[in-house]
Amino acid sequence: MQRVPLVLGNWKMNGSVQANEALLQGLLGSLSPQADAAIKQGDLQAGVAVPAPYLFQAATRLRSSGLLWGAQDCSNEIAGAFTGEISADMLKDFDCQFALVGHSERRERAAESSDLVGRKLGQLLNNGLMPVVCVGEPLSEREQGSAEDFVVEQVRAATKGLDEQQLAALVIAYEPIWAIGTGRSASSSDAQAMHATIRHELSQQSQSAAQAVRILYGGSVKAATAAELFAQPDIDGALVGGASLDATEFANIIQSACPASQSLH
Ligand code: PGA
Repeated sequence: MQRVPLVLGNWKMNGSVQANEALLQGLLGSLSPQADAAIKQGDLQAGVAVPAPYLFQAATRLRSSGLLWGAQDCSNEIAGAFTGEISADMLKDFDCQFALVGHSERRERAAESSDLVGRKLGQLLNNGLMPVVCVGEPLSEREQGSAEDFVVEQVRAATKGLDEQQLAALVIAYEPIWAIGTGRSASSSDAQAMHATIRHELSQQSQSAAQAVRILYGGSVKAATAAELFAQPDIDGALVGGASLDATEFANIIQSACPASQSLH
């Protein structure tokens, strides 16, 4: 099945109005005509997950570009007395197309469980937003040889109870924790093996949804390593942290996912 490649930047807690302006303009100016055309034709998707206070700025700057903008988290609640939370409905108000949920930095720092992540993604689906569900094992699990079991359990818990259509609307980002921000990316073959495992797990719920779900790799993705990752049959794009803060580098990663420069799947 032909899946549209997807490259998303995750700015994390970085930026300012001024710096974002330069980064977004730089990114738009650095996209090749080929990538720009592929994005406008719907053959490639790319975008940025920005800190919530800058969603309006991202929406304003990116509205006519074809690039996507989204948030880095979303509440599991609909509305009400939940100080500091941001609802899926509010994200929709800023015309976000997607939001990350379950990033390991939130699972670790805010003690988010897979069950909570599942409820957050439910809110996104109810509001027509694309959930990008992050999963990934810590180094200890990889060293013990239990990385696949760990990730499969995260996928199972987060997707429990979804119907076929909801499942097909998900994006999953496999981000081994030991590869995030360390400069130590998973090898393309290790990443491919985990992506195939995730797709196999999804196929237990629905064969056709499993073929439709895009599985992104994240963890120290750079322009120099992106093409090799994207050449793998089950790697449908990337979630890019540090390198997405550099307009040229990020544009080069997007270029590597361009269908004409990379015969994807
Ligand atoms: P990194 O972050 O690219 O800086 O490793 C990826 C992420 O955490 O999404």
